[in-house]
Amino acid sequence: MLNRIITALILVTGLLVSTTTMSQKIKGGKAISTDLFGLFFEDINYAADGGLYAELVQNRSFEYNPTERREWHPFSYWEYVSPGYSYGKICVETRSPVHPNNPHYIVLDAEFIGHYEEFKGVSGVGLKNSGFDGIVVRKGENYNFSLFAKKLSGNPVDLFIGIENTKGETLAENTVSISSDNWQKYTSTLKTNSDCDTAKLVVLARTNGKLAMDMVSLFPEKTFKNRPNGLRADLAEILAQMKPAFVRFPGGCLVHGDGLENMYRWKNTIGPLEQRVEQRNIWGYHQSLGLGYFEYFQFCEDIGAKPVPVLPAAVSCQNSGGTWRIGGQGQQAIPDEEMEEYIQEVLDLIEWANGPVSSKWGAKRAEAGHPEPFKLEYVGIGNEDKITPEFEERFKMIYDAVKEKHPEITIIGTVGPFHSGEDFDKGWKLAEEIKVQIIDEHYYTDPAWFMGNQKRYDSYDRNSSEVYLGEYASWGNKLQNAIAEAAYMIGLERNGDVVRMASYAPLLAKKDFTQWRTDMVFFDNVNICPTPNFYVQQMFMNNSGDQYFEDIISKNENDTTLAASCVFDSKTGDVILKMVNYSDSEKPMKINLGKFGKIDPLAEKTLLQGNPEDENTFENPDNIVPVYSEIKTAKKMDYLAPPMSLTVIRIKSRN
Ligand code: AHR
Repeated sequence: MLNRIITALILVTGLLVSTTTMSQKIKGGKAISTDLFGLFFEDINYAADGGLYAELVQNRSFEYNPTERREWHPFSYWEYVSPGYSYGKICVETRSPVHPNNPHYIVLDAEFIGHYEEFKGVSGVGLKNSGFDGIVVRKGENYNFSLFAKKLSGNPVDLFIGIENTKGETLAENTVSISSDNWQKYTSTLKTNSDCDTAKLVVLARTNGKLAMDMVSLFPEKTFKNRPNGLRADLAEILAQMKPAFVRFPGGCLVHGDGLENMYRWKNTIGPLEQRVEQRNIWGYHQSLGLGYFEYFQFCEDIGAKPVPVLPAAVSCQNSGGTWRIGGQGQQAIPDEEMEEYIQEVLDLIEWANGPVSSKWGAKRAEAGHPEPFKLEYVGIGNEDKITPEFEERFKMIYDAVKEKHPEITIIGTVGPFHSGEDFDKGWKLAEEIKVQIIDEHYYTDPAWFMGNQKRYDSYDRNSSEVYLGEYASWGNKLQNAIAEAAYMIGLERNGDVVRMASYAPLLAKKDFTQWRTDMVFFDNVNICPTPNFYVQQMFMNNSGDQYFEDIISKNENDTTLAASCVFDSKTGDVILKMVNYSDSEKPMKINLGKFGKIDPLAEKTLLQGNPEDENTFENPDNIVPVYSEIKTAKKMDYLAPPMSLTVIRIKSRN
């Protein structure tokens, strides 16, 4: 009995201790942003279709066209096949499509199905899709096939659905009979009998007849969190493990688009897939928009990150109409008479995300399967636009309308593509004039700039707009680039009272399909190759705090290759030390934890180090990875920071 009472007391005390730990704040600490480090997702480098979006069929809706790439057309990535000496006809039609937003579809006329005994394979007339450079399947797993179809002949048409390898051997098969005279969705599940990284999807009419088909799709059943129309599990998982505070989407330049017609309009990206308005991607390929606003918001919720949608500021990209692009000539603005409608579109997004199910747009969110609000807090307006009178006028109109109708939303404004210069100055002037809460700065430059500008935000006015460093990277994916970024991020933490958010850019890049030379995570259809820059980001996101402490770590202040920070995480009661050494020799630092109460005798240490030129490759993806170990702690500790390194030490404390 006594034992039980003692156990109960220990439990209660433990609970009390941990409850106290949850809410404690330490004296002398500076409150910093809890949304400091997040992700920037843009559909660049095939990050969405062929990347994070798990659809395996490329050009599933036959909407590829030469305005995207001169050589593209509705049959791109499809091949007409008629095995077994069968014959028939195939053509593209646009009359009475499955939905007017999705105009092209295929008409297949199977005139003769071969029945020659000597032919061993499956005979029929149809199509084969090669996916995004091959379709990856795994033995014993299920793949969900679907298509929209209607029969155009009197009799139903039986379809063979197969997944085959490059030798033409069938790895999985099923059948579907097209019996409706109207567009209807047909589905079937395929279980594969072996692994293949270069498979193709085959759809063959097995009986004579004519049919129309569209939205031919194949998804792995195993998507991230098993969501239908979901995300590639391994890629989504690696992002989830970073524990980002937020995800900004869908871009980048993709947002303001290559001319007015190419802007990313969120309403085109929600609702049934067959009704979404597909379009050319500013980066030179196609957006199926299967990964649309609903899927972005759902992903954010699934990984515990705040959604940060960015909407065009009613002007297109100032670089519209470049050499390979087709479209506008420089920045174009939505005409005055259309601004009211455009502003309503922005307001509708907030209602769609947060409104009750009884509201018009909240009801659409509920219809999509999410009656609960998405808890939207931030909305970005504009992406590094040229600050012209047309931009200013439109930005102000949108800003005023959102502030009036939704004062609870924090708006993020924009100040051009560089860390300084005309747009930067004009953008900041406007922000100060109208008191934009947060300003989105972007800069891509060399590591030396990052090392030389670590104190950039020390002198930012605390009474002016806060900063979202929405895109930054030092040009390169070598360790030295990552460590320069780490040193800079120490400066962001130190200034976490004025820098509200920051995100490295771009995030994902598909091997051999890149448009941007330095990216955070490279991947192909099977493998993932995180860069050293990724690990730096991950170490910061996994080890963020809500209070910053000066003077915990001392080092040679004249040595600009060194940087260090100490933050406290009041949720866990952990003291987190980060130490950066960008030089080629070991450097001493001294740690004084006197400000904190009791500390655990052992702490977790994470170390990223190597040679400056080291990088990760698909052949050697683990060349530079963080190494975890335990380290003994003391109130006063010495630490020798290894050359070219980032160290994070996480110490449990009771205060
Ligand atoms: O991150 C790649 C591009 O860089 C973004 O689309 C754009 O905002 C910036 O110029």
